[in-house]
Amino acid sequence: MTKLEIITLPDRKLRTKSVAVEGLAAVQVGIGRRVAVVDVAKREDEDAPPNPIFLINPQILSSSDERSIHEEGCLSIPEYYADVERPASVRVGFLDRNGRPQELEANGILATCLQHEIDHMDGVLFIDYLSKLKRDIVIKKFKKHGRLSPKPDAL
Ligand code: NI
Repeated sequence: MTKLEIITLPDRKLRTKSVAVEGLAAVQVGIGRRVAVVDVAKREDEDAPPNPIFLINPQILSSSDERSIHEEGCLSIPEYYADVERPASVRVGFLDRNGRPQELEANGILATCLQHEIDHMDGVLFIDYLSKLKRDIVIKKFKKHGRLSPKPDAL
């Protein structure tokens, strides 16, 4: 299996929309495919065994009016964390690893995680929910880092 590198701000790929996966033959965990693996077991209980959920083409079918705030971070925005307010629970439709349609009702950290990952597929990052001031500070910081890369102005 190919090892994939995590891309970070200000890579413009983070802002692109992923395309739907058509058929299991096309399934690859790769750039631009609507595939996510979510595992919140360890965040809720340190000693819990891994319990990954594999989602293909996940979609939010409905979300609660009730909202909740959780601290979020992202592998693509290293070492930055912030409180984000989102719907407290969501119903998500997706295909499992066998291509079977599934539905999942999630709340707590799992609801936040699913929304965060589905946002990624539409080029949305958790910093987009922060005030413009906070967001600009983060983007500026990463643009500075990016000055050594070939496309420093890309975001
Ligand atoms: Ni992320």
